[in-house]
Amino acid sequence: MKISFKLITALIVTLAAVAFSFTFFQVKQEEKNLADEIKNRNHLLAQSIQESLEPLLEQGNIQKIHKIAEKFSNREKLSGVAIYADDASIISISSNISNLPVPEKIIKKIIESDAGMGHFDDSTGRRMYVYAVPMKAKGAKNALVLYSDARDIDARLYHMWRRTLLRVIIQIVLISIITLVIIRWSIVSPISEMTDWMKKIRSSEFFSLTPPLKGDIFAPLQKEAATLAEHFHTAKAAAEEEARLRQQAESTWTSQRLKEFIKIKLNDKPLFIISNREPYMHTYENKEIKTIVPAGGLVTALDPIMRISSGTWIAHGSSDADFEVVDENDRVKVPPESPAYMLRRIRLSEEEENGYYYGFSNEGIWPLCHIAHIRPVFRKEDWLHYHNVNKKFAQIALNEIEEIPEPYILVQDYHFALLPAMIKKRRPDARLALFWHIPWPNPETFGICPWQKDLLHDILGADIIGFQTQFYCNNFMDTIDRAMESRIDWEHFAIHREGHQTLVKPFPISVPFTQPAAEETAASYPAADASSLLKSFGLKAEFIGVGVERIDYTKGMFEKFKAIERFLEKHPEYFGKFTFIQIGAPSRTHIPSYHQFISGLHSEVERINRKFKRKDWKPIVFLEKLHRHDEITPYYKAAKLCMVTSLHDGMNLVAKEFAASREDESGVLILSRFTGASRELRDALIVNPYDVEQMADAIYYGLNMPAEEVRERMKRMRQTLRDNNIYKWAATLIEELTKIRIDNFHVSKV
Ligand code: G6P
Repeated sequence: MKISFKLITALIVTLAAVAFSFTFFQVKQEEKNLADEIKNRNHLLAQSIQESLEPLLEQGNIQKIHKIAEKFSNREKLSGVAIYADDASIISISSNISNLPVPEKIIKKIIESDAGMGHFDDSTGRRMYVYAVPMKAKGAKNALVLYSDARDIDARLYHMWRRTLLRVIIQIVLISIITLVIIRWSIVSPISEMTDWMKKIRSSEFFSLTPPLKGDIFAPLQKEAATLAEHFHTAKAAAEEEARLRQQAESTWTSQRLKEFIKIKLNDKPLFIISNREPYMHTYENKEIKTIVPAGGLVTALDPIMRISSGTWIAHGSSDADFEVVDENDRVKVPPESPAYMLRRIRLSEEEENGYYYGFSNEGIWPLCHIAHIRPVFRKEDWLHYHNVNKKFAQIALNEIEEIPEPYILVQDYHFALLPAMIKKRRPDARLALFWHIPWPNPETFGICPWQKDLLHDILGADIIGFQTQFYCNNFMDTIDRAMESRIDWEHFAIHREGHQTLVKPFPISVPFTQPAAEETAASYPAADASSLLKSFGLKAEFIGVGVERIDYTKGMFEKFKAIERFLEKHPEYFGKFTFIQIGAPSRTHIPSYHQFISGLHSEVERINRKFKRKDWKPIVFLEKLHRHDEITPYYKAAKLCMVTSLHDGMNLVAKEFAASREDESGVLILSRFTGASRELRDALIVNPYDVEQMADAIYYGLNMPAEEVRERMKRMRQTLRDNNIYKWAATLIEELTKIRIDNFHVSKV
């Protein structure tokens, strides 16, 4: 049954019931009033007739009695007058009531009770009121009876019922019309508009995100429908983008795709990154505050992700103007040109920085994990600082995530091996991954660290430990197997310890490469050729090679320069034709070995240059300065070859950046086999940096490689990068992070 019919029926029934009940009681009351009125009237009339008749009865003057009865019978709505003896025989009766019944019973009653009495009589077919009073004469009792026409009482009551019925009918019609109009305006049309709106959403037509519902009663529905529409819209857009990408480039991950992915996976929860190095540093330059992006793969890889996901990056504020630009909570929004996420800077004293960063992290763990034949140095005080600084970061991170249930945290690198357990102990609901950017050595090598067990114990607080390659994962599992009491699940690469599971997985880090259109790239970086770049150094050459490094003993720079020297010795025809430009960002210069290393490099470059130099040519240009990305790109693009000769390197993003920047599908990459990147970029010329002869030959082969081979190799490397870019890295890591089941983690000590 239709709702409007139900509503109208209910209203009609209620209204009729109320109206008829009220009329019923009104009619009853009116009937009583009319009866009282006729009774009183008859009573008064009877009294006056009685007064006139009694003396005549006494005298026995029947004729006169007849006359009086006749005279009164036409008065005051009377239908007739009769006088009866006590045996109900007629003494006198007016002519107009000859056929009226003799009220024997009432005569008997009034004579007995000696009081007047009346009743309604319907026996003749028309309603009569019969009123009788006793009269005395000659010692006998007689009865005076008045007959009144009572039909007008029925008529009046009938009119009352008729009026009520008419009123009810008019009300029913009006109420039905009003109800139908209200239902149409307030319910039927909003619902039909809402139905159209939903159809549009379903059929992908353009639609407004605000549902067309107005009015208080629809307010909650309107809110819910709006939220639903928004979610639907987002999910649809993501699905469309996904489909578009799938069609366009199989499974290429882009920042847009990652953005949608993160939105869905993290469900609008912020992401927390914790690292030692901050993504943006504020520094004084001629009394002005400038922003610089530090060297190293970490920032290159993670900044694009934070720009997408928003959230907070917690890092050491190590630059001289860092705390000039923060708010009262040591926070600043970055990137400066278009703020997208929060950078929470942490203050460290000089002592803390020396012990934790320069000491334990970079003189201890760094050489421990990099097989570059530099001895690690382990000092007790450095270890204590490392522990305390980890604690400080943990506390601040805990404050930052306080309000967020089951937060997502990405801890970065060897500076924070103790953080996972420190955070998870207080927030077992956190989903925490530790990404180890540098290599993990074999168990024997790692075993020389005096605090090996402490480090391993706290690292295992993480839900996921990510490494650059499967090989480092294997080394880590072996180390745990050798050093700790735990259950190793080789099938799933998981470690079970103290009721907690840690997954160990490779996530090869990469660059934000999605192959922009050639015009776009050309527009963002001015075109460059070797001779114009060399001109700025007052040099001339046909080909240039390029190397870009954070100046570090692990990067194999001495070996690279030796290879260039050997190449020129073997191929003097390249004198004046080939110059190698080495860009080097100074790093960790407070550590004496780094300091000595830089000055050693300069001497080496000087020695080689002195050996071969001509008037306007030299074999090596060493640019010791932090270069921005846009300053480096012209060198990548103009170079005939790029040399990455690390003695040991977790990944090495320079190799990937070089290939990514070569949209002309040209350029040769010479790549050390001891880098993580060499596992992916199989089309580079893979070399052993300790083998100077091999590297010299690789330079020669690179300069003389047939153009077709160059293009084929570069094409394949670029395809690998496109398929495995930084967006995919982030998506895989976040996917794993969201899959973590929160268990009852507990650690026995921190
Ligand atoms: C390596 C580390 C990174 C670090 C980078 C720069 O790539 O894995 O964590 O950011 O070196 O080192 P620095 O000591 O200057 O931060």
